Amino acid sequence: MRGNGIIFPLMETVWIQEEQIGYAASLLQRGELVAFPTETVYGLGVSLSQPDAIPKVYQVKGRPSDNPLIAHISSPAQLTQLTTKLPPQKLIDAFWPGPLTLVLPKHPALPPLVTSHLPTIAVRLPSHPTARHLIDLVGSPLLAPSANLSGRPSATSASHVWDDFAGKIAAIVDGGDSPLGLESTVLLLAPKPTILRPGTITKEALEEVLQEPVAYADPKTAEPLSPGMRYRHYAPKAKVTWFSEEAPFLAYLEQSRSRLRMTLETPQPETLYADLRLADTNGLEEVVLYCSYELTQNVAFMNRLAKIAPEGV
Ligand code: TXA
Ligand code: MG
Repeated sequence: MRGNGIIFPLMETVWIQEEQIGYAASLLQRGELVAFPTETVYGLGVSLSQPDAIPKVYQVKGRPSDNPLIAHISSPAQLTQLTTKLPPQKLIDAFWPGPLTLVLPKHPALPPLVTSHLPTIAVRLPSHPTARHLIDLVGSPLLAPSANLSGRPSATSASHVWDDFAGKIAAIVDGGDSPLGLESTVLLLAPKPTILRPGTITKEALEEVLQEPVAYADPKTAEPLSPGMRYRHYAPKAKVTWFSEEAPFLAYLEQSRSRLRMTLETPQPETLYADLRLADTNGLEEVVLYCSYELTQNVAFMNRLAKIAPEGV
């Protein structure tokens, strides 16, 4: 909104500390958007009890409307509102609360808008105590994508969310830094267990609990299974170049010098998004990363990096 040359934000965004979390819950109950911390990344929540507010999430994020949101619950008992087929109890026992999202057949009573018209719904029970407390207070699951503008790195702190959404959402609950820093593993259960998005919970850990093989979805053929796969993700404004061999990494640094460059010799999965955002807030032009052999074995980290940039040579 404009007046006399002054640009006003569209709405006031309230920064909420955990002690005032009841206020965040009341905003959600009224159909407002509130960002909240989880152990993976921050989520941009809307209450399932206010489906008319769901389009606002897509609008403020700039997210394509065919890419559905994850339903966040605080207790497995809430599953019966969301699905007609409960997941195997051994998966719940082993990985919930935690960074595992399960794709289940959706409950027929849910409005089509909730799942972008898909026959399935993605559900997660986060381990972050603030997230669970908020869901309990709202008394309804929270539908939430990651709290970043579409295509940008996910937010792992309240100030990252502020950078993307101040003036556009009602509130941000500050729960400190998200400890894991990468989004949850998304697992489709039927017809056979398939990882749609790798995360901290690995294929091997899932196989051990399920006692059956778990596949990775082929990005070329899995589009209809996971709409999120087809969109560009996680990228900062700065150019990202990464190397998995040390000699070309050092040669690259040597032959092209720049003061507007961030070099990460030992990048950490937990802080990747924070580092990329820091590069942007400091107006840097390039981020160069070296991935040790050990890091290249981290499927979730390499999945995100490959989406940000192809490997340098
Ligand atoms: O860790 C996380 O999962 C974070 C925190 C906030 O919980 N959330 C998150 O949400 O990363 P989002 O919207 O950025 O990613 C959700 C992913 C997308 O790739 C989407 O396509 C997929 O889950 N998804 C959602 N519903 C689905 C469904 N019914 N079937 C298949 N994939 C689905
Ligand atoms: Mg996201």
